[in-house]
Parts: sequence; structure tokens; C-alpha cells
Amino acid sequence: MSLVTLTVNRFAKEWQKNMEMEKKYWWQSSVIYQIYPRSFMDSNNDGIGDLRGIISKLDYLKTLGIDAIWLSPVYKSPQDDNGYDISDYTDIDPMFGNLEDMTLLISKAKEYGIQIIMDLVLNHTSDEHPWFIEAKKSRDNLYHDYYVWVDGEEGILPNDLKACFGGSAWEWVPERKQYYLHQFSVRQPDLNWENPKLRAEIYKMICWWINKGVGGFRLDVIDLIGKEPLLGITSDGPHLHEYIKELNLNTWHNKDLLTVGETWSATPKTAEIYSNPDGSEFSMVFQFEHILLDQQEGKSKWDLAPLDFMKLKQVLSKWQTELSDGGWNSLFWNNHDLPRIVSRWGNDGQYREESAKMLATIIHGMKGTPYIYQGEELGMTNVRYDISEYRDIETLNLYKERLEEGYEKEDIMASIYAKGRDNARTPMQWELSANAGFSQMAPWIKVNPNYLQINAGEQLLREDSVFHYYRQLIALRKKYEVIRSGNYELLYAENPQIFAYQRTYGNEKLKVICNFTDSTANICSEDFKNYELLLCNYPATEEEHQLRPYEARMYINAVRRS
Ligand code: NOJ
Repeated sequence: MSLVTLTVNRFAKEWQKNMEMEKKYWWQSSVIYQIYPRSFMDSNNDGIGDLRGIISKLDYLKTLGIDAIWLSPVYKSPQDDNGYDISDYTDIDPMFGNLEDMTLLISKAKEYGIQIIMDLVLNHTSDEHPWFIEAKKSRDNLYHDYYVWVDGEEGILPNDLKACFGGSAWEWVPERKQYYLHQFSVRQPDLNWENPKLRAEIYKMICWWINKGVGGFRLDVIDLIGKEPLLGITSDGPHLHEYIKELNLNTWHNKDLLTVGETWSATPKTAEIYSNPDGSEFSMVFQFEHILLDQQEGKSKWDLAPLDFMKLKQVLSKWQTELSDGGWNSLFWNNHDLPRIVSRWGNDGQYREESAKMLATIIHGMKGTPYIYQGEELGMTNVRYDISEYRDIETLNLYKERLEEGYEKEDIMASIYAKGRDNARTPMQWELSANAGFSQMAPWIKVNPNYLQINAGEQLLREDSVFHYYRQLIALRKKYEVIRSGNYELLYAENPQIFAYQRTYGNEKLKVICNFTDSTANICSEDFKNYELLLCNYPATEEEHQLRPYEARMYINAVRRS
């Protein structure tokens, strides 16, 4: 090959790479709303939310302005882990409706310009999945190697690997005289991704959903699929990216879909592999570094550490700058596994509305795709229930385990109040009426009694509500390229009260400045000279040089169109 051809080829390659980097996908300017179906809206009054309930609230979601719904699992499931234990990937659990309802949801949502993102749980199934029912019968049936089996002796565990929901990750099956792996509950056996037959079945199932018209997928604990449990490797196994690339090629490759991997172990470096703009893996991942800040190092999520604001600034900024153009960020505070953010980093008492809006401002001004978890747009809060009123398997197992280990009841409850997953799973607070308008029947889990003060009905009518503030944040992302694409620079880096940053895109500049405390904070008003105030969570003020408790401001430079 001549030098000229080589050079031309190199330029062609570089050009293609640049084009890929430059290409804008719909999900890069979108805002996603997560629905936890059993707690969203109950249409048939059995106390459990369902698909028809979601359809009845599409208007509400349209008003908010979101582009896609991430739907937590609605597949057939014994509900040991509220649907993250699937027994049939191509059917809907009767508690949520049926396939016809699902098809209707996909098409109705499309009429509103809203895509449906399905939750794919590919690391494990339910123990009631026909594959597992067969697999556990013998070592030589058709599905025998769809799961992870290890020889051993009853009573002598293969190793001391622990399940995320407590106890050993190994369970003995007498029929096979072997242990199977379960990284979550004993009813969630881990799938064996080393098996090409299993992988092919999964691809077929995903293509079936793509043909139904879904807008993408959220991939549950996807960093676990390459596990090597006997070596103690759970996340980031040696074949992980090989599996993901093959999964991509056989399913959503070159299809205009949003894919987001749940990866608790991600670092900016690995996130660049997962979300490479060449489209070989996912659109983006959920990383949890900012979420993990409130637990003691090397301990479990229940072992609380004091909140460290300076670390929060550093971690969120690191993800903005280090991922940059090499990948794509997702932006979130909340989901169905996490406590309500206003009760964690905000103030759910006197400054609930101010702090809920402030927390929203910080991440909605950043680069990436923002996710809103149902009720976050109302500033819904954590709960403090009696232990008998909790429903989550993880919480109930923890309570039992820690009592047996001799922990004080009060200390266990303090962890549950702060971190329990049911904080996020109480029914959506729609109205002032009975059961917060979620259902006419007693819901599967108690409604947060503060629905009398915090509910969508009241907030829709009130212009300065948390709901309307979120609506404005979403609208601003649609309007300003600098919010979608601008570079990020941290401001006031050493300030212990203020989180502020600047975004720059061409001559457009955006400044976001937030007070994370319940006292006033001084700023330099010169910094915002020639800037227009786009949004603020307080009424207008003369005190430009001072932020009120939890005050948030978003500015744009006035000369940007020169
Ligand atoms: C992560 C999900 O978000 C969580 O709810 C679930 O319990 C585990 N994965 C197991 O599927």
C-alpha cells in the first residue's frame, strides 16, 4: 500500500470517528422518568399499580416534559424481589395487566412522543423460570448449564461469597448434588453467560421486544454477568466486555435505541468502554460513586458515614470532566433502590421545597441524560415505618440478620430509615383523597402520611411548586445547547457551602450556583455580571451577593449571540 493510500485511510478513519463523536442521538437531549409500576397508579383497585394506571397518567408525564419512561420490570414473576426475579421474559405479570396492555402502553406513549425503556434482568432469573425448574432436576437435561453450578458436599460451601440480600451466595440442590450461585435472593439463581445457547436465547428475546417497538433497555446489574465466583470475582469479570459486545451486535446494534447499564463498579475509565460513542456497548451507564459516599469504606450500605459535601462536589465534577467526549453520563439522584434525595442531601423539613429544587438544579444543569424517579418531581420524602410495615426483601432480611448478630433495634432502624429501599417505593402521591389517589383499596405498602401536604394535584395548580420547577429544568435543557453539550468547569471549588459550575459551548456560557446548607452563603455578584437569571428556586431578591438556605440559581451569559 502506498504512503498516499495509507494517509488517506488514516484520515478517513479519523473522520469517521469524529463523525461518530459529533453525531447527536435522541437520548442525549432527553430526560427519562422512571416508573416503579407497583407503586405508580392502580387502575383496577387491587392495591397494586398497573399498566393501565400508567396509561392514565401519560398526560401528567407529557406536562412534565419527559421523553422516555424507564419501566421497572413488569414481566411474569413470583415477585420475590418485586419483579427483578423473572419467570417469563415475554409475558406480563397478571398483577400489572397483560401483553395487550403493554402493546397499548407502547403505542399510546408514542402518541405523546414518549418512548418505553424496558428493564432487562439478565444476570439471573426467578427460580420459577422454566429453565431453572428443568436445570435443577438433573445434570443432563437440556437446560442443565443455563445456571452456575459447582460440585461440592452438602454443608460445605464452595467459598464464603455472600449474597447481596444476606447469607451465602450458594444453595445446595440435592437432585444434582451441586450448589448453584445466587448473588441476590435464593430465589434468583445466576445465569451462566459462558453458555452460548443461553446467550442466543437472550438475544432472541430482546429482539422480540425490539420488534414490539420499545425505545430501549435498562440492563440490571450488567457488570455482574462475567462473574467467576470461584475466584471471588463478581463484577468486571474477564469476559464481561466480550459478552456485552456480542449482546449489542445481536440485538440493538445500529438501532436507534437508548441502552443504559446498571454498573455499581464503574469508573470513568470503564464507563468509556461501556458508553463508547462507536456504539459497541451501551448508550450510557448508571455509575454510583456519588451514591456510595454515605457509607463507611469497605462496609455495607447500611453502615452509614457522615455526608461529605466536598467529596460530593469532587466526585460529580470528576465524572463531568473525565468522561467528557469519550462516553456519555447519566445523571440521577434517585431510583427504586435508593432513599429519597431530599431526605438524604436536602432538608425534608423546613426547606423541603427549596432543597428539592436545589438538588434538581445541580444535576439538571450538567452534561448527560437526567433521570427522574417517580415522586422526585414532587419532592417526596423518606418514611419511618414500624418494621411490620416494610415489604422489601433486602430490608426484612437485614433486620433479621442484624437482630441475630446482636445489633440494637434502634440502630438497625436508623439504617433502614436512612437507606431502606421502601423509602422510594411508597405509592405515588397523586391527590388529597384516600390512599393519595393511588388506589381505592389499601395499597400493598402504606402511603406516606405526608401526602396531605405533598401531592401532584396541589403542585400542578401551584406555579412555584417542585413539579413546575422540574418542568422548567426540562424545558431549559431542550432550549440550550450549552446545557446539552457544554464543557464543564467547577467554580468555588474550596467553598464548603456552595456547589457551582460553569458550562461553555462556543460563546454560550451557563453558570449554576447552589447553596447546599441551611444557612446563607456569600457569593461574589461580580461573577454574574452580564449574566441573565434563567431560573431560581426563590422569589427575586435584591441580595445578589448572598444565597439563601438551599438557594439555587442558573444564569446564562447575556452576550451569547454576538
Ligand atoms: C438491581 C435492581 O435495581 C434491584 O432492585 C434488584 O433487587 C437487583 N438488581 C437484583 O435484580
